[in-house]
Amino acid sequence: MSNTHPEFAGKRVLVTGGTQGIGKAIAARLARQGALVHLNYAHNDEAARETQHEFESNGHAVELCKADLGVPEAIDAMLDRVHEKGPFDFLVCNAAYQEKKGFFGTDLDLLKKTLGINIFGNFQVIQKSPAR
Ligand SMILES: NC(=O)c1ccc[n+]([C@@H]2O[C@H](COP(=O)([O-])OP(=O)(O)OC[C@H]3O[C@@H](n4cnc5c(N)ncnc54)[C@H](OP(=O)(O)O)[C@@H]3O)[C@@H](O)[C@H]2O)c1
Repeated sequence: MSNTHPEFAGKRVLVTGGTQGIGKAIAARLARQGALVHLNYAHNDEAARETQHEFESNGHAVELCKADLGVPEAIDAMLDRVHEKGPFDFLVCNAAYQEKKGFFGTDLDLLKKTLGINIFGNFQVIQKSPAR
């Protein structure tokens, strides 16, 4: 694909949940436009390494950022690491958690876990992404 969006060339982008699925596809598109992509994930190291290898094989700059968005300390540590190289330019909030158990099948623990990642985790990532 040609460089149809030069505004991304040389920029640094953090994609949450960027190692698989939709986040990976977004990251690949940005990488093809010349962005350095930081790929966040939480659990699957093997998939993350495979994605890293795939991006690097295609000549794209990539860094893995392991952090569970349900763990505030992990988010802080991830953003500290990404900020070590200075401010980054774009944030893609893609990662989310969902268990389809329906209204009556959802207990408080599941509700807290879901809100912890999807609301509090994303709030923290967005609030702390600008360079301090
Ligand atoms: N696929 C659909 O049909 C669909 C429809 C509507 C909305 N969405 C939304 O689109 C987003 C991506 O969906 P997808 O289908 O591409 O999912 P996916 O293929 O399962 O990929 C999810 C990605 O998020 C990461 N992730 C999961 N839990 C995380 C956590 N707690 N902290 C950080 N990273 C985490 C995963 O890495 P690890 O496995 O290593 O943790 C993986 O990289 C989600 O927000 C989803 O709700 C998807």
